[in-house]
Amino acid sequence: MSEEDFDEYVKKLQKTIIDKELEYYNEYVVNLFHNPKNWGKPPEEEITVWHAYEGPCGDTMQFFLKIRDNIIEKANFITDGCGATVAAGSQTTLMIEGKTLDFAESLVPEDIDKALKGLPEDHKHCAELSMRTLHRSIEKYKYNKV
Ligand code: FES
Repeated sequence: MSEEDFDEYVKKLQKTIIDKELEYYNEYVVNLFHNPKNWGKPPEEEITVWHAYEGPCGDTMQFFLKIRDNIIEKANFITDGCGATVAAGSQTTLMIEGKTLDFAESLVPEDIDKALKGLPEDHKHCAELSMRTLHRSIEKYKYNKV
């Protein structure tokens, strides 16, 4: 197979995969899990608090927050979960950056689900994993401050 044929083959394969995902998830979610936002562990000096949490389905998520004067200046995450979890983590970080801790604590899984324009019923818990990880990260930050 020539290099061009191979590239063409890979492109077709990617399209087939994305078409399959679109039968199940909406376009916004598919885009987010192929191009996650705020993915990855930042350098130590940019982390005020981090926390790892394992959800009931066995998938884990970690949040890394940089907090100053009660404001979340930077939020990053990683997960070993499904695509919906990647989208939920991305969406959560987008919604909390530059916001107060109170705002972040007031968020509920339904807010993430709504911002994602609706996860499939059997993946609603992925937004729950993101929220639990975020809320526990904030609890840890507050606990360590006292
Ligand atoms: Fe486990 Fe998405 S399937 S969090």
